[in-house]
Amino acid sequence: MLRDFFIALSENQTLNAAAKRYGLKMGAQHVVAGTTVEETIESIKKLNAMGISATVDNLGEFVFEREEALAAKEQILAVVDAINEHQVDAHISLKPSQLGLDIDYDFALENLREIVDHASKTDIFINIDMESNKHLQPSFDILDELSKDYDNVGTVIQAYFFRAEEDIEKYKNFRLRIVKGAYKEPAEVAYQTKEEIDANYIQLIEYHLMNGKFTSIATHDHNVINHVKQFVKDHNISTDKFEFQMLYGFRTDMQKELANEGYNFCVYVPFGQDWYGYFMRRLAERPQNMNLVVKQVFTK
Ligand code: FDA
Repeated sequence: MLRDFFIALSENQTLNAAAKRYGLKMGAQHVVAGTTVEETIESIKKLNAMGISATVDNLGEFVFEREEALAAKEQILAVVDAINEHQVDAHISLKPSQLGLDIDYDFALENLREIVDHASKTDIFINIDMESNKHLQPSFDILDELSKDYDNVGTVIQAYFFRAEEDIEKYKNFRLRIVKGAYKEPAEVAYQTKEEIDANYIQLIEYHLMNGKFTSIATHDHNVINHVKQFVKDHNISTDKFEFQMLYGFRTDMQKELANEGYNFCVYVPFGQDWYGYFMRRLAERPQNMNLVVKQVFTK
């Protein structure tokens, strides 16, 4: 299956390392905002000018060295400073594995704490992205720890996990991003069919819209978006209780349309040299995105 093929490519550490050396290639520049903080701030300013906010992700995976995790932390702190300096409408998304979760739990927790603490001083929200199953519980544990001291932190619920229903109930007082789920997970822990995942996705969104704090509905699926539009209308849910989110470079016409219709809209803006794994997962989700690659090859 193409999905499995691209997921395997996304996890190939040799290819990840090689891609870092060559800058944005293969069409990745259409879905990655830049390789530097400066380029990324310029992309965010363009989004803000269209009434769209941003959540910024410093790309990076397979971090097994402390130096790399510390460098990632410094880069994210620099993004927080740049958001303040340029007064752009943006917050941060980060991955615990990039901050050392595969090295040592306490080390990752302290790195995250430093970022959340720094961002709390200017009220910048930090979203803990959710990765594969092995990172899931430790990431929730980190959230539990940090939320004892800070309220500018939230996370993601992945609808393909059987446990998602329990998690959303437990974390209903948090700002949550709800997604279908991007990794390949075994049948012991996750729904496998699109129908099951989509049904659970809708159920979780409705639950959090009705019972929870702020909801970020992160999807490119127009059926889900149309369903949510009708649901909030039927239940008189005010637009300041939720937002739609999409990835940078995807369905940009729909992004503008939703913002123009008056919905809060936030674009996930990935940047950095470590773009390869992210790009391959996007191809896995939607092999039609290969168009980006093909176009690039023929328009050089
Ligand atoms: P899906 O891929 O199921 O597509 C449904 C339908 O929508 C398609 O059949 C097609 O009709 C239409 N469609 C989709 N993409 C289209 C396109 N580009 N152009 C035209 N039509 C299109 N995952 C995770 O595990 N952890 C995380 O922290 C995050 N974070 C995150 C943030 C944001 C902002 C987004 C948008 C997504 C994530 N994800 C994620 C990824 C998420 O779990 C999921 O893998 C992808 O969003 C793909 O699922 P969709 O809901 O977008 O639709």
